[in-house]
Amino acid sequence: MKISCKSLFTLALLSSFIFPASAQNSPVKGVGAISSVNIQGQKVNITTNQNAHVEVTVYSPTIVRVRMDKQPLAADFSYAVIAQPKQTKANITQSANEVTIVTDSLQARITKNPFAVAFYTRDGKVINQDEAGLTTSWIGEEVTTYKKMQEGERFIGLGEKTGGLDRRGSGYTNWNTDAYGYTVGQDPLYATIPFYIGIHSGLNYGIFLDNSYQSDFNFGASNNRFSSFGAQGGEMDYYFIHHKKVADIITSYTDLTGRMNMPPLWSLGYQQNRYSYYPDTEVYRIAQTLREKKIPADGITLDIHYMDAYKLFTWNKERFPNPRQMTDKLRQMGFRTTVIVDPGIKVEDGYAAYESGKKADIFLKYVDGQNYSGQVWPGWTHFPDFTSEKGRAWWRNEVKLYANDGVDGLWNDMNEIATWGQKMPNNVLFDYDGHTTTHKEGHNVYGLQMARASYEGAREHMGNRRPFLLTRAGFSGTQRYAAMWTGDNRAEDNHMLLGIRLLNSMGVSGMPFTAMDIGGFTGNPSVGLYARWIQLGAFTPYFRNHTGVNTKSAEPWAFGEEVTEIARNFISLRYKLLPYIYSSFYEATQNGRPLMRTLAIDYTHDAKVYNSEFDTQYQFGEAFLIMPFESGKNYGKVYFPKGKWYNLYTGEVETGNREEMIPIAFNKLPVYVKESSIVPMQSLIQSTMEKPTDTLTVHVYKGDVANSFVYYEDDGETYDYEKDAYYKRTISYDPKKKTITFDKTDGSFKSKFNNVKVVLHGFDAKTKYKFNGRKADVQDDLASFLAPISRFDPQGTSNPVEGYKVKNVVVKNSNDTFTISY
Ligand code: NOJ
Repeated sequence: MKISCKSLFTLALLSSFIFPASAQNSPVKGVGAISSVNIQGQKVNITTNQNAHVEVTVYSPTIVRVRMDKQPLAADFSYAVIAQPKQTKANITQSANEVTIVTDSLQARITKNPFAVAFYTRDGKVINQDEAGLTTSWIGEEVTTYKKMQEGERFIGLGEKTGGLDRRGSGYTNWNTDAYGYTVGQDPLYATIPFYIGIHSGLNYGIFLDNSYQSDFNFGASNNRFSSFGAQGGEMDYYFIHHKKVADIITSYTDLTGRMNMPPLWSLGYQQNRYSYYPDTEVYRIAQTLREKKIPADGITLDIHYMDAYKLFTWNKERFPNPRQMTDKLRQMGFRTTVIVDPGIKVEDGYAAYESGKKADIFLKYVDGQNYSGQVWPGWTHFPDFTSEKGRAWWRNEVKLYANDGVDGLWNDMNEIATWGQKMPNNVLFDYDGHTTTHKEGHNVYGLQMARASYEGAREHMGNRRPFLLTRAGFSGTQRYAAMWTGDNRAEDNHMLLGIRLLNSMGVSGMPFTAMDIGGFTGNPSVGLYARWIQLGAFTPYFRNHTGVNTKSAEPWAFGEEVTEIARNFISLRYKLLPYIYSSFYEATQNGRPLMRTLAIDYTHDAKVYNSEFDTQYQFGEAFLIMPFESGKNYGKVYFPKGKWYNLYTGEVETGNREEMIPIAFNKLPVYVKESSIVPMQSLIQSTMEKPTDTLTVHVYKGDVANSFVYYEDDGETYDYEKDAYYKRTISYDPKKKTITFDKTDGSFKSKFNNVKVVLHGFDAKTKYKFNGRKADVQDDLASFLAPISRFDPQGTSNPVEGYKVKNVVVKNSNDTFTISY
């Protein structure tokens, strides 16, 4: 549908009055007024009198994509988005003044003069709108969209970003940076996720800017008029998402950019790292000590000293004479080996990877064709172009070495790209999968593409074994390939809390599998800090203890007897919780809901959760409320959101919607359980290679709200789950009907557990229970999640941990539905 030349002329005239910035001589070029509209199915193509080209596409009833450029739009290409538009019922019409798009979930109205986009609910409430007069504009190649700051609007997300949970008043830059020992407010850090969620007037929306140039987000920093997002080059290309719940926005965002795969079960156990464990005998000593001290663990990680002179795809033969023998022996001890991989390939004649890379011609090049060299650990190096299929294929093949040596995990480091000097030249070219571009556009996706190549290589060469992948840098979509950790933090209290904020933010931004260096990377933690951090680590998705090269020992036994006991206690709790944690990861693979959930996900419109006193509090999965506190505090203020909360250790109930001062013991992280929660647990094991007893213990916490939990199990090891070899069932608790129901199971996998023990918390001791309608056997039980600490706490703040009395019902596990009623 075109509009006439006459109206076009009038519009052009008008727009230059309304939007003087679009005048020919202004350094800021606006979009101008719409001169033509072409509606085709779910898509609208627009041109303007300022030669802007716009495409608005309905991706689903809840997602609308807006693309804009000041030249005809380029071929559509994205490393982040893997979804195609879904066939959607969308009513697209136009009048003299606007184009209107109506889906089942939202309305988009595009004003014609000047061009501006606004999103509304179906019943006409403004969700998000361009700031009149500013809308979208270009300054040179830099393009920015300005959105009106709504009354009381808050902003969360944007991935690995420092600052408070509510980002209002702050501005951020996305440029993946090697941020060694960063400060608590530093920006940017290592990874780019240009996705945030806006919250106001009881409404929520998400905006994802799919542009890999350096991007800038402004949530009302140095201005009180707008929030904005823009990039230094490329198109304005954003996806607008609207749902009533923040959790559903995350689901839609991960519909677009993908979700994680089921991780290998061992990667959810405790991981021992340091920069660096060597030689092999030292690695054995660490593994052996963990076993002797009964500290459960599943992973040992080798940092750069395993290599010969930091040359990738080599082993230092003096330190590691027989890598395969070592990984086999470690496996016999219940450990998997992860090795670090850096992208820089040493420029050295005769070094196999250098020679083969040169031959395959896969290194990043300057515009004149000469390979780019930058300095990293091995000295001068070239960097594979992971944005080319040729580069990734070369890498996949090299990765075979590790697979053959029995390595199970690849830790992708330094992939921002980190080079000494931190100034990679912009005239280095990236293939960008056939859309050759400069460093400016390639930089932020390099880490994502390296993680992809490593993941694909591991999948190709590790047979049916699931690999574990970790990366430092990344872009939206990295969740499809790897877990991500927050780099070189400091052994300081405020870094521990910062780490929690970072992981919570990454969680709402589509990255559920995340970690920070527990204990801190630079510097040495105090005894108290280490004790607190390792407790928190048990409630982070990837549980990694790591420290820098010149620091003191930071293994769980390096801080004295009491801390060893505390570490053992919390790591053991983590292992007992693995059925719950694994099922929660399954949930992340299905709908993108993160393991670490800022309270803004479930309590979005409760202003208290954004209060800086409380904004590190988070849920770990659905059930647990974690209250992080710096070390050395004996009391702390917490906020219980609405509902009822059980103290994990004492079973005492706190009513919600309330602040409270609570005592904080040195040896006990404050953890609460949400009413009506269902928490499956297993007996203590020292490694996931060990079998737990065949009883699955399912804790049910009495509450007023109905709840359900999807229990998920598979072999934890292979990809057979993709072919139906899983065991899945919904367990639901209905307080009205007074039932706990285990639905019929789904999948062909046989559960490890022949019995189910249902532990009943908060129920009256006299309650009578039935199993499938018949009187059930009820037994006394002690709910005890931690072992008593044997030594007296020098600070005098801890008491021996005691359990509390509960009842349980033990039944035979069956694949058919069964019910416990009361
Ligand atoms: C930087 C990483 O962030 C750190 O974790 C690692 O130990 C060093 N590189 C050495 O490889």
